[in-house]
Amino acid sequence: MSANLAKPFVKWAGGKTQLLSEIDKYLSIACSSRRNITYVESFVGGGAVLFWALQKYPNIERAIINDINPDLISAYKAVKYAPTELLQILERFQKEYFLRDEVERKEYYLSQRDIYNNISASSDVERAAYFIFLNKTCFNGLYRVNSKGVFNVPHGRYNAPTICDYDTILSDSCILQNVEILCGDFNATMDFASPDTLYYLDPPYKPITKTSSFCAYTSMGFDDSDQMRLRSFCGGLTEHEARFILSNSDVAETGLNEGFFDNLYMDYNIRRVAASRMINSKADKRGKLSELLISNIQ
Ligand SMILES: C[S@@+](CC[C@H](N)C(=O)[O-])C[C@H]1O[C@@H](n2cnc3c(N)ncnc32)[C@H](O)[C@@H]1O
Repeated sequence: MSANLAKPFVKWAGGKTQLLSEIDKYLSIACSSRRNITYVESFVGGGAVLFWALQKYPNIERAIINDINPDLISAYKAVKYAPTELLQILERFQKEYFLRDEVERKEYYLSQRDIYNNISASSDVERAAYFIFLNKTCFNGLYRVNSKGVFNVPHGRYNAPTICDYDTILSDSCILQNVEILCGDFNATMDFASPDTLYYLDPPYKPITKTSSFCAYTSMGFDDSDQMRLRSFCGGLTEHEARFILSNSDVAETGLNEGFFDNLYMDYNIRRVAASRMINSKADKRGKLSELLISNIQ
């Protein structure tokens, strides 16, 4: 099995696959200047940068991932520790889904969503399988919960979604054997800061319009005060001589809080890179926008 197949096993809002080449410019500078790197991703989401970096840079000796979403983190643990059992359940879900016509698929999706929300699945692996099934069959692969923490994304329309992706899950499992998996607020990952540590930080983006808000990864959201906490966190990393690369939305030119990040991160390098954002549910409103890459790497 080739470890090079490792890539996100879930579709995740804000996924960084399309920005990898830009982010890699910083990664390559950081990874070429030291022999033993500790890589920390404090808001891992789908982990596009994690899987890329761990396959490309063998001098990353230690890796730590963190996210506040407990179900996402349980899914990472299931992929790491029980890939075969997870794949068996996913294969069953995939067969049951594919047997059905369009109307029945929607009913099946809703009943799986109810099970996921109401009954705790019998084991962590089973719950991870429900999580991955819903991610692959829901609208746009979104993860959205209401204020009570209930997953409420409607059914998506895909002809043949890959619910049971053997190659990806087995390759990811292989890569994750050397990764420590944490669940909580990003601030706790400060513990790993040292001159050998490289952080990739990809927080929920600050909304670029009053209606485009997508911070509902958790029922707590991520507001301006969290963005300011993250700025202090970056200051702390810099004091420990750790390096960081931070992604965020480019609110300049939108007329909404313009200058917010330029002011907040005036002491660091700010680069604007082109990206097409997929958060807007109306296809015609998705376009080329710039995003920010902020770093203390020279
Ligand atoms: C933009 S996404 C990360 C996308 C990821 N880079 C990818 O490629 O898929 C932001 C992530 O931050 C997590 N998150 C939100 N608030 C957080 C917090 N306070 N601490 C840690 N993680 C948080 C969300 O659950 C979400 O997975």
